Amino acid sequence: MRCVGRLLLIVSAGAQIQESDIFLGGSAFTSNESENLGIIYKWLDDIMWSTSWDDASHRLLAYQQLRQLAEVSTNHLPSLAFGVGQAFYSYFWFEENGPRIQLEAAELSVHLHDLSLKHSGRSDLSLGVGTFLSKVCHERWLFLIMLCAEVGAAFAKRRQNLSKAAALLQRGNDLFEELQQYPFFSFRKWENLYDINTNSHVFPEGFRQRPVWPNSAVPLAGWLEENYQTFREDLDLILNRSLFDTLYFMGHVSMTQFSGRRESWAPLNLIHNRELAPHACEVANRSCDLLRSRPEIARCHAKDVGAAFARLQPGMGIKPHLWNAPPRLAAHLGLRTPHGASMAVGEHHLSWDEGQALVFDDTYIHSVNHEGTDDRYLLVTWFCHPCDTLHAEVPPEDPEHFCPF
Ligand SMILES: *[C@@H]1O[C@H](CO)[C@@H](O)[C@H](O)[C@H]1NC(C)=O
Ligand SMILES: *[C@@H]1O[C@H](CO)[C@@H](O)[C@H](O)[C@H]1NC(C)=O
Ligand SMILES: *[C@@H]1O[C@H](CO)[C@@H](O)[C@H](O)[C@H]1NC(C)=O
Repeated sequence: MRCVGRLLLIVSAGAQIQESDIFLGGSAFTSNESENLGIIYKWLDDIMWSTSWDDASHRLLAYQQLRQLAEVSTNHLPSLAFGVGQAFYSYFWFEENGPRIQLEAAELSVHLHDLSLKHSGRSDLSLGVGTFLSKVCHERWLFLIMLCAEVGAAFAKRRQNLSKAAALLQRGNDLFEELQQYPFFSFRKWENLYDINTNSHVFPEGFRQRPVWPNSAVPLAGWLEENYQTFREDLDLILNRSLFDTLYFMGHVSMTQFSGRRESWAPLNLIHNRELAPHACEVANRSCDLLRSRPEIARCHAKDVGAAFARLQPGMGIKPHLWNAPPRLAAHLGLRTPHGASMAVGEHHLSWDEGQALVFDDTYIHSVNHEGTDDRYLLVTWFCHPCDTLHAEVPPEDPEHFCPF
């Protein structure tokens, strides 16, 4: 069993702490925020992707060390705040790897993102768009606003501390109002915090973004429904032979912790970035043949496009997130849709039905809850936005109506 690497602080009495005084997993921190994020993630990935993570005492040890780093960030070194804040969100969002939000970690994550935004010089409204983007301010803003809103709502839902809930929600809304004054955001005419989406980074003013797209606007939706039987049979074959986990862990595994446990949200890839997954396609041969015939998926050069059989275990959820490498859309086809699973996208609440497709914009804030008792399975696809001609090898089928430019 691997040990949880220790945080090492080398400080001489009275001296000012510097980044290079602090070591984690054998690497010293620097003044570069993204390098620091890399050091923290590497250290946590090594623990998470080993059996160490299954042991609650190891997770607690890692958590305590992260809390120490949070203190150092707050009192001395704001250049660590972004990495530590992201780590709380990415690895400690869920209490005991279960479905519930760990409120303390979530609140620390809010605080650290706030700190990192200040550290990046956010209060300077005169920043040109170029400098604003180069400091990755847009991502920090959106992330912080999402966290304030979602953590505030979680406190309120838990009925734990309503003044804290109200303060967080207010902070999210205030930041949202402030954000709109920056030239990079002002043209988007967002009315509500849940209108935030990153597809709007790449389409011009006047283009209407929508969290949920009508199936009629996206030919892929009808095609998924027409082929439901084939996708369903291939999934059943994999399940009947108990091959799901084996195939999932043999293929491209999502390194990001979207759900409480490694296996609770498992997208078993059939095709990813234009390449078929050989092991999965050996079993799901007909599904793979179908998928590779769709240019929106198989001949699209947008980031992280593809299709997967996605399982969500009952009692678990997917944390709030938004895709931040636009453009892209997502379509789901319900394959096994037991009672109790639902998704929030922007202001909308959606649920799945077997054989029904659902098209949504995953660059909006979205999250999933499954309060039922059986595994839920979808065919999840990520594909070229129907108005994106830059990344598509084959032009979209019918863009006129929805892409007014
Ligand atoms: C509730 O939150 C406020 C603001 O963060 C804090 O000052 C107060 O101590 C909290 N109350 C309880 C009972 O935790
Ligand atoms: C899987 O098993 C179920 C029930 O045992 C059966 O109804 C179904 O036809 C099987 N599907 C396949 C593809 O083998
Ligand atoms: C499915 O099987 C056929 C016949 O063996 C083969 O030609 C085809 O390439 C396979 N498709 C995939 C996606 O592996």
